[in-house]
Amino acid sequence: TGTIDVDIAPIEPGQAITVMWRGKPVFIRHRTPEEIEAAKSVDVAELKDPNVFAMGDNAGLPATDENLTRPGHEQWLVVIGICTHLGCIPKGNKPSENRGEYGGWFCPCHGSHYDTAGRIRKGPAARNLQLPLYSFTSDTSIQLG
Ligand code: FES
Repeated sequence: TGTIDVDIAPIEPGQAITVMWRGKPVFIRHRTPEEIEAAKSVDVAELKDPNVFAMGDNAGLPATDENLTRPGHEQWLVVIGICTHLGCIPKGNKPSENRGEYGGWFCPCHGSHYDTAGRIRKGPAARNLQLPLYSFTSDTSIQLG
């Protein structure tokens, strides 16, 4: 059916997991308060891609942290884990990996830096990481699709 349920309870703050959905990696990140604050402090008008890139909800809206997350679940960021440049899988799910200059993810293929809301901040990628179709079915579970 293309729909999967993911238990997010085991994901510690500062960590992310990858799940496969419709043949694509999806990153589910449990953001720390500092990472949320960093994401909220960005002036959207300064962004290279100032709009939400999403398969569903909020597509095309300003790429604020509020529009990139779900109300009441702002500690969770859910993005398709494919660099919008040429399709490599960015690093940064583990804090021990290189997360780039903006603390989110770093794509080592040609050096794209994404922030803690998945927005492109530096490097050749033109678009933010894409949001998949998803919804919260409880505080500790997400349905993709
Ligand atoms: Fe990620 Fe080129 S594919 S920077």
